[in-house]
Amino acid sequence: TTITLIGAPIEEGSGRRGAAMGPTALRIAGIDTVLRDLGHTVYDEGDVKPLPARDLANHAGANNLQIVAAFARALHDSVHDTVRKGHFPIILGGDHALSMGSVSGMARYAAEVGRPLFVLWLDAHADFNSPATSPSGNMHGMPVAFFCGQAEFTPILPADRPMVDPTKVFQVGIRSVDDREREEIAEHGVRVYDMRAVDELGMAHIMRHILDEVRSANGLLHVSLDVDFMDPELAPGVGTTVPGGATFREAHLIMEMLWESDLVSSLDVVELNPFLDDRGKSARVLVELTASLFGRRVLDRPTRSA
Ligand code: ARG
Ligand code: MN
Ligand code: MN
Ligand code: MN
Repeated sequence: TTITLIGAPIEEGSGRRGAAMGPTALRIAGIDTVLRDLGHTVYDEGDVKPLPARDLANHAGANNLQIVAAFARALHDSVHDTVRKGHFPIILGGDHALSMGSVSGMARYAAEVGRPLFVLWLDAHADFNSPATSPSGNMHGMPVAFFCGQAEFTPILPADRPMVDPTKVFQVGIRSVDDREREEIAEHGVRVYDMRAVDELGMAHIMRHILDEVRSANGLLHVSLDVDFMDPELAPGVGTTVPGGATFREAHLIMEMLWESDLVSSLDVVELNPFLDDRGKSARVLVELTASLFGRRVLDRPTRSA
């Protein structure tokens, strides 16, 4: 696989400082070498550093709208360009607001090639708020609603862009949802496997179900990995820890099954806050998980090649 790394040092969606250091920490933890060692070709585009979108009026329910919108626009374009070249984009975050852009760029590509886009959202949170429903105004809680066309309050991206069908969004690991957000995800049919579902069904069962559906629809699959998907013991370097998260084993199982599926087209690694991390621990876990997603194995089970 030919991989392009795109750094997105955005923290303005998160309501606190530190996530802008995420791309640097992921590079220091060796994300590029780990992927090269697995036999992939890796390009690093460096960081996108857009100027604020001054054409948009400030909005009381959308904190730091101008800079968040600027990242959304820049990432929409760079992810779209990358995937059209036949490269696999990995977006190094940066807070989760960046997925407004990365997923919208993938949705545009999917529409061009006439295939449905599915999204696997690995997160403690549903991130389906809008300025009308958000208790915080922090836009990292809004990207799913945005790329599904349910947060259209100002022209961040054109209103006629391809949207993601909310029934093609699979959320796994969810354990913190706001009241109005809960109504929205039900109304729009987002496919939520919360932590209770993980406990009752098991991760392998859930993943097989999701991958079967993507495969039978000939879909593209974008994976968005929020650090807080993992348990805080495993990955403390994030501003929005929630107890009861995924274990090391569950997270690796997902990544290995994703590699074997050969269905994944694009990846966000988001919400790493190195300022809150414990001696690089969370950055290292993310690099290990990325390696599993790109073919690292413990044993020589039958698998596909790089
Ligand atoms: N639901 C809360 C909010 O809207 C928290 C969102 C956290 N999102 C994240 N990407 N960490 O403010
Ligand atoms: Mn998130
Ligand atoms: Mn989260
Ligand atoms: Mn709605």
